[in-house]
Amino acid sequence: MRIAVYPGSFDPITNGHLDIINRASKLYDREIVGVLDNINKKPLFSVSERKAMIERVIAGMDNVDCDTFSGLLVEFLKCKNAAVIIKGLRTVADFEYEFQMALLNKALNPEFETVFMMTNSKYSYISSSMVKEVAKYNGGLEGLVPENIIPEIRKKYNY
Ligand code: PNS
Repeated sequence: MRIAVYPGSFDPITNGHLDIINRASKLYDREIVGVLDNINKKPLFSVSERKAMIERVIAGMDNVDCDTFSGLLVEFLKCKNAAVIIKGLRTVADFEYEFQMALLNKALNPEFETVFMMTNSKYSYISSSMVKEVAKYNGGLEGLVPENIIPEIRKKYNY
């Protein structure tokens, strides 16, 4: 069984994330979306809110699950019996940081592979931080995030 983990902060999940989740789910038997509970970052949504939004979005996808993790990604992979880390790349700006993380994860556990998927060009400009910026000023979120989580994002900003 080939199990892949797609890790991230997902604060909140965007259509760019969803596109990667969808495409990766076709390449592996099972895909686990790993939501990082990061004590160093101050997320807008709590880890349980982020997980609940992802679960709503992946509801129709048979081989995709979501779970949270804290600590090292390689430990999360081990505990899920996974051997592949999925990462999405939008622009060259993502590359340097992602390259460093992939090498670090390789050093931590050489048995794991990081697989990069190029974003769909339709979504290359979308990021969770841009989504939050738009939402903060009550801009349109249609097309940026899955429709069924828009009310929850609006609620956070009291719109
Ligand atoms: O969506 P993000 O915030 O860019 O995702 C970053 C993430 C969660 C993939 C990365 O921060 C991570 O893997 N954190 C877990 C801690 C860890 O394993 N660090 C060592 C490798 S960078």
